[in-house]
Amino acid sequence: MPKFRAPRGTTDLLPEEQPYWDFVSQQVERLCRAYGYGRIEPPVLEDAALFERGVGAETDIVQKEMYTFQDKGGDLLALRPEGTASVCRAYLEHGMHSLPQPVRLYYLLPMFRYERPQAGRYRQFHQFGFEAIGEGDAALDAEVIDLSWQLYQAFGLRDLTLVLNSIGTPESRSRYHQALREHYRPHLERVCSDCRARFERAPLRLLDCKQDAALAEAAPRSLEHLDGESAHHFQQLRAYLDALGVPYTQDHRLVRGLDYYTRTVYEIQPSQEGSQSAIGAGGRYDGLIQELGGAPTPGVGFAGGVERIILNLKRQGREVGPGAAPRAFVASVGEEAKTAAVRITGELRRAGITALMGLGGRSLKAQLRQAGALGAPYAVIIGGDELAAGAATVRDLARGEQESVPLGGLREWLQARVGGPLS
Ligand code: HAM
Repeated sequence: MPKFRAPRGTTDLLPEEQPYWDFVSQQVERLCRAYGYGRIEPPVLEDAALFERGVGAETDIVQKEMYTFQDKGGDLLALRPEGTASVCRAYLEHGMHSLPQPVRLYYLLPMFRYERPQAGRYRQFHQFGFEAIGEGDAALDAEVIDLSWQLYQAFGLRDLTLVLNSIGTPESRSRYHQALREHYRPHLERVCSDCRARFERAPLRLLDCKQDAALAEAAPRSLEHLDGESAHHFQQLRAYLDALGVPYTQDHRLVRGLDYYTRTVYEIQPSQEGSQSAIGAGGRYDGLIQELGGAPTPGVGFAGGVERIILNLKRQGREVGPGAAPRAFVASVGEEAKTAAVRITGELRRAGITALMGLGGRSLKAQLRQAGALGAPYAVIIGGDELAAGAATVRDLARGEQESVPLGGLREWLQARVGGPLS
């Protein structure tokens, strides 16, 4: 057993995983730019109070899952558990209210939550997300939902459901909370102990209780308790989503575990068995900026879990293109040939061809075995004869055929067969 292991709930992202990460981040970057979003990268650490105010002191994230610590100067800091509060803090700190509104920002960042690790749930995980701040128009909710949906289409994921709900404003919600309490009060023995504890302060969360689905199904619905403006906003949003051709399912039981949401909430869920948890979620948060000390400023956003997306890509057998397997392996025999191999490998790399060379004075046979094990399609062999002839012997490792290629034309020869730089 090694003496040290990565902390529980964290993983090493090894080279063989990188093609998936490159693929996801390339799609995020491409589409976010196409929708006019600019990249933001807040620090990993924030004042712990930011999340208490922003995400909510009563939420599981703040109560149970934050990595909070005092630094050597005595400040109470937290590792970021989510991106929205940080982005809103940055919006305020950098006076972005004076820019044309809404301000559109996107990110791809590690997040930290002390959760019970399992497949698709980690203590360090990554989210891509986007936030559009400074506009309350339902057409902006539609834009953010459309961007999320188009991204999952670009990933090539099948069988996804976009689940949509509206939870109104804090004022209309307090009336709804009352109705929920009246519904649940005579049946509290039918919900789990966590939910019983939440009954007074967060009755919305009881809709999410897995213990008694029938009780939740029969509960009063948030849509029936919306204020007039929220109802109109939701109606407009559905019309805009229809205009965009974004499919969605309404679910009155969709509630979110973060306190900042107002009106629109939504999740993207895989329908495959064993992957029930959301692979992305978002909504509107019209009170958050004010909660953080700014003027009343609406906002709407979304975040997707990169690990969960990759898990689903793999489950669905989605190929994402070549990784960093070498396209050519330069083998050499003798010191003079090895110097030539160093030069040739460098030239191939500078031309964008992923190339490796034999090291450590191994025999030609061992070098060729290594080239095969690494998955290189071609081995470039340099020995005394090759140096004298000014031509390499290039072996097609799959076919076992070989031919002589002049050193001056080697780069073009390989480029024609294995392509240029890998994306
Ligand atoms: P969230 O639902 O807490 O929302 O997280 C969004 C997504 O992050 C989840 O749907 C899931 O895919 C992924 N995720 C969450 N926790 C974990 C974990 N422990 N391990 C792996 N993946 C995880 C938010 O964070 C909001 N900030 C979203 C948002 C942005 N709302 C408005 N703007």
